[in-house]
Amino acid sequence: MPDALAVRGLAKRYGSVQALKGVDLEVGEGELVGLLGPNGAGKSTLVKIAVGLVRPTAGEATVAGARAGSRAARAELGYLAEMFRFPGWYTADEVLELHQRLSGSRGGAAERKRLLELVALADATDRRVDGMSKGMQQRLGVAQSLVGEPRLLMLDEPTSALDPVGRRTVRLLLEELRGRGVSVLLNSHLLSEVELVCDRVAILLGGQLVAVGSPHDLSRPRGVELETDEGIHRVEGATREDAPRLVAEAVAAGRQVYGVSVLTSTLEDVYLEAVGGETS
Ligand SMILES: Nc1ncnc2c1ncn2[C@@H]1O[C@H](COP(=O)(O)OP(=O)(O)OP(=O)(O)O)[C@@H](O)[C@H]1O
Ligand SMILES: [Mg+2]
Repeated sequence: MPDALAVRGLAKRYGSVQALKGVDLEVGEGELVGLLGPNGAGKSTLVKIAVGLVRPTAGEATVAGARAGSRAARAELGYLAEMFRFPGWYTADEVLELHQRLSGSRGGAAERKRLLELVALADATDRRVDGMSKGMQQRLGVAQSLVGEPRLLMLDEPTSALDPVGRRTVRLLLEELRGRGVSVLLNSHLLSEVELVCDRVAILLGGQLVAVGSPHDLSRPRGVELETDEGIHRVEGATREDAPRLVAEAVAAGRQVYGVSVLTSTLEDVYLEAVGGETS
């Protein structure tokens, strides 16, 4: 089975700006991949090429084996653009109806009701977009991306305007979709969220991938911390395997041991190291 999304040697130049410089990346069936990187790194450009909105300068992108932008490719995917706007005079239900018509979905009223429930907007069916908060509009945007039951979702910062409860709603939704075999490419600046939900993360910097792997594989040991009656003491370079010995040594030295933790780098540490604190 072909990957849900595959990009090979993808490059994009806008005039004098080289937004992508040869990127290779796959999103497998049922895989949730987080695309991270500083402002201007090329994340949205990659997604727009995959959706078929922007033409690459070199390389190729395929969706379930079909060329990005082709009818077959578009039929497989759902997309939520960054900084989208729906017409203010449409109700939530009308926005979804419009997208059902655009995508040829035959889900009808039942699909619209189900999607609004999924994003916790069941009470806002007849609410106009203009009368919705930013976060409600964003959840409506996520619902819109799911019209027609796409197998690949490309979400460009779907939770940037959401409060913690809204983020959790979307996170649980993404987990549920993955359970059903839907593949997701998620652009986000919210590292803790990406860490919680993504199978793999890819970090873009200046149009190139600088790290790809599961959050676990990318993290590194950062020592062991012991809390004793003398305070908190970190043993740099120690790993999980050293923990029992360190505790035994402390006890033998007459210390009261209150806690021991094995420290690993968070995705934030990995990210900051990969991008070198740089923005492009
Ligand atoms: N239509 C365009 N015309 C000219 N330059 C563009 C265009 N779109 C993007 N760029 C440039 O391409 C580069 C990559 O932009 P892109 O929007 O892909 O970044 P991004 O990683 O999504 O950033 P952000 O985190 O701010 O959303 C930037 O230098 C941007 O200015
Ligand atoms: Mg962007």
